[in-house]
Amino acid sequence: MSIWSKISRDKIPLHVAIIMDGNGRWAKKRGEHRLFGHTKGVDSIRNVLKVATEIGVKHLTLYAFSTENWNRPKEEIDGLMNLLVQAISNEIEEMDKNEVKLSMIGDEMRLPEKCRQSLNEAIDRTKENTKINLILALNYSARWEILHAAKQMAIMAVNDKNKVQQFTNEDFDNLLTTKDVPHPELLIRTSGEKRISNFLLWQLAYSEFYFTDVLWPDFGADNFIKAIASYQSRERRFGMVSEQINTTNE
Ligand code: IPE
Ligand code: IPE
Ligand code: MG
Repeated sequence: MSIWSKISRDKIPLHVAIIMDGNGRWAKKRGEHRLFGHTKGVDSIRNVLKVATEIGVKHLTLYAFSTENWNRPKEEIDGLMNLLVQAISNEIEEMDKNEVKLSMIGDEMRLPEKCRQSLNEAIDRTKENTKINLILALNYSARWEILHAAKQMAIMAVNDKNKVQQFTNEDFDNLLTTKDVPHPELLIRTSGEKRISNFLLWQLAYSEFYFTDVLWPDFGADNFIKAIASYQSRERRFGMVSEQINTTNE
C-alpha cells in the first residue's frame, strides 16, 4: 500500500525531531548487552531517514547522545562512540548518493578525536547536498545551548546595550546551534517515556509531541508514517481559537 493512502501530501512537517529512546531495554528483553540495542538502532535511523526523505521532510534532527549520557558506564560510552564512527563509515556512501546533508548540533569538543574527525569528514563531503538535512544531536544539551546564547548576549551588551535590549526571538534563534533550521513542527519520542531530557527546549516551544511505546530498534517506516498522520490530524492554534484557524485556511 502506498504511503500516500495514510498521510496527506499537504502539511508534511519541514522539520521532525526524534528522541530515539529504548535501545537498552530492547536489548535487555532479549538477554543481550545494551550495545546490541544501539547497533540495531542504527537500522532504524536508516529506515526513518529513507521514509522521511521520501515524503519530503527537509530536516530530521536525531538525539543521539546527551551531555547527561556521559554519566553512563564507560564501556557503554566507548561502545556508542565506536558505533558512531562505524555507522558513518558504513552509511556515508549511500547518504551522499541520496543527497543527504549531514550536520551536527552539540559541543563537539568533548567527543573523542576519531569521532570528530569522521563526523567532520562526512559533514564536509555532504555539505552541498540538498534533499534532506540529517542533524545529529551529539553531546547536546538544550540548557548548555541556551546558556551559551545568553552569555553571548551578555558579551554583546558590554559594547552595545541598546542592541541587546531590542533583541527579538529571531535574533535569539540566530545564537543557537539550530540557527539555519526552522523549529521542529513535530517531536517524536519512542519507548514510552514522556519527557524532553534536555533536548531543544527553546525550539520545541510550539511543537506537536508524539509519544509511542515502541522501542527505538523496533521503530520503522510504518511507525514514522503513523506519527506523521497523528501530526496531520491536529489543529495547531498558536494561541488562537479554532474559528480563526479555519478562516485562515479558507
Ligand atoms: C537511547 O536508548 C540511546 C541513547 C541514549 C544513546 P537508551 O540507551 O536510553 O535505552 P533505554 O532507555 O535504556 O532503554
Ligand atoms: C535521551 O535519552 C537522550 C538520547 C536519546 C540520546 P535518555 O535515555 O538518556 O534519557 P533519560 O535520561 O531517560 O531522560
Ligand atoms: Mg533511555
